[in-house]
Amino acid sequence: VVLVVDFGAQYAQLIARRVREARVYSEIVPSTMPVAEMLAKNPRAIILSGGPSSVYAEGAPSLDRSLFEAGVPVFGMCYGFQLMATTLGGTVDDNGAREYGRTPLHVTKAGSTLFEGTPVEQPVWMSHGDACSAAPEGFTVTASTDVVPVAAFENDEKKLYGVQYHPEVLHSTHGQQVLEHFLYRGAGIEPNWTTTNVVEEQVALIREQVGDKRAICGLSGGVDSAVAAALVQKAIGSQLTCVYVDHGLMRKGETEQVEKDFVAATGAKLKVVDAEKRFLDALAGVSDPEQKRKIIGREFIRVFEQAQLEILQEEGPEVAFLVQGTLYPDVVESGGGTGTANIKSHHNVGGLPDDIEFQLVEPLRQLFKDEVRMVGQELGLPEEIVQRQPFPGPGLGIRIVGEVTKDRLDLLREADAIAREELTAAGLDREIWQCPVVLLADVRSVGVQGDGRTYGHPVVLRPVSSEDAMTADWSRLPYETLAKISTRITNEVADVNRVVLDVTSKPPGTIEWE
Ligand code: XMP
Repeated sequence: VVLVVDFGAQYAQLIARRVREARVYSEIVPSTMPVAEMLAKNPRAIILSGGPSSVYAEGAPSLDRSLFEAGVPVFGMCYGFQLMATTLGGTVDDNGAREYGRTPLHVTKAGSTLFEGTPVEQPVWMSHGDACSAAPEGFTVTASTDVVPVAAFENDEKKLYGVQYHPEVLHSTHGQQVLEHFLYRGAGIEPNWTTTNVVEEQVALIREQVGDKRAICGLSGGVDSAVAAALVQKAIGSQLTCVYVDHGLMRKGETEQVEKDFVAATGAKLKVVDAEKRFLDALAGVSDPEQKRKIIGREFIRVFEQAQLEILQEEGPEVAFLVQGTLYPDVVESGGGTGTANIKSHHNVGGLPDDIEFQLVEPLRQLFKDEVRMVGQELGLPEEIVQRQPFPGPGLGIRIVGEVTKDRLDLLREADAIAREELTAAGLDREIWQCPVVLLADVRSVGVQGDGRTYGHPVVLRPVSSEDAMTADWSRLPYETLAKISTRITNEVADVNRVVLDVTSKPPGTIEWE
C-alpha cells in the first residue's frame, strides 16, 4: 500500500486516485495519525499531500521526523514538500514569492529520478504563499520557477522527493509521469494493482468474513448496490439473497432490468417485493414535495425490513450480514474509520428479534466511483447497469409536480423512455450527467393536434452537466435532438401536448424539480 497523508486539502483524494491510475494501491490517512501507526501499515511509499496552511502558521499540522528516517520512500507535494524541507533543516520563508495557477517550471537537473524523460520546461499548477529557498543538506535541487529557487528536490540515497507544485492536477501536464517516476523508479514499486486483483481480493475477504452464514443485499437499481451484490454473489453464491423493492415509481424497464439482466449476469437469488399499491395508497392526495419524500422513505424502510424478516423466517436466523455499496469517498468523508460497524435493526418496525444484529459487508469501501464501474464490468454486469446515470431514490414520485397517481406515472414513464432513447441514440449519455423528465401534472395548456383542440399537460426536459451534482449547468443539447424528443413525446404520449426545456443552472435551481 502507498499511504497518502492528508493535510486537509481537497487534493488527497485526487492523489490517491492518481496513484491507483498508476496501478498501485493507495489509501488516505489523516496527518494526525502517529507515524508509528502509519509505519505499522507497512507502506511501500508515503505521499504527503498539499494543505491549506503555512508551515509557520500557529497549529499548522506537522510530522514527526522519524517518518523520514524509517527508510520508506517519501514524496512531498506543496505543503508536504515544505514540511519535508523545514523538518529536515531546509529553509522555507514567506518572501512574497506567491504563485497561484499555471506556472512554467524549469527542470534544472537532467536525468533526475522524478523528471527523467520530461521536458526541461513544463507547465505546473502552483498554489502557495511561502517558498523554499534552500534545500536540506544532502538534497539536490531539481527544478525552479521564475520566482522560486527550489521548486523540487530529491535525495535519491534516502529515497526522499518533493515538488512545490501539484502534480496530481491535470494542469500539471507531466504530473502523472512524475508521480509514476516516484512510484516505480524512486520507490521501486511494480504497477500491478488492477480491478482483477480487487475482485479476487474482495472475494477472498468476503468468504472469510461471511463463512457459512447468509447475507442480504438491498438492490436499488443503482450502480453501487448492483456491483456490491455481484461481488458478494461471486464470493458466496446462494448464501446471498438480494431484495429489490419495486415501489412503482421506477422508470420504464427498470424493474425488468434488475429482474432479468442483473440475475442473468450474476445468478443471484432475488426477492422482488411488489409494493406499488402500498406506495401509491400512501401517496394518494399528497402534492407537497417534502411530504412525498418522507412518505416514500418511510414506506421503503418498512417494506425492506418486512422483506428481511421474511428471509430470516425462511432461511433461519443465521442470516447475519447486510451488504452495502458504501464507496471510498463516503468512508473518507466520515472520518476514514477502519473495521466493520455493527448496525442493529430497528425493533420498532418489522418485529425483528431484539438480539439480531447485522454485520455490514462493504466490499466497495476502498473504491472510487469509476473503479466501481470497472469492477462491475469485470464481473460481467451489463453496460446499462454499470454506466447508469444517477436516479433519485424517490424515483418518478418527485418528478410529477402535483399528486402522484398510476396514470400520471405511466404517462411520465413513456415520455421519459422516449427522451432516454433519443439521448442514447444521439450518443449523448456520457456528455450529460442526467436528464430528468418532469410532468407538470397540475398545469394544462391548449394545443391543436389533427383537427382538434387539445387541453393537455406539459413535460419539462431537464438535461444537466455536472461533476458531482453539487453544482450543475443546463446542457446545451443539439436542437435536432431536442426537436426529435419533442415531436416523439407529443405524438406518442397521449395527454402531453407541449415539451419545454429547463435552462436553469444549479444554483439557483436544483437538478430535480422537487
Ligand atoms: P438535486 O435535485 O438536489 O439533486 O440538485 C442532486 C442529485 O441527487 C439526486 N437526488 C437523489 N438521490 N435520493 C437519491 O438517491 C434522493 O432523495 C435524491 N434527491 C435527488 C438527483 O437525481 C441528482 O443526481
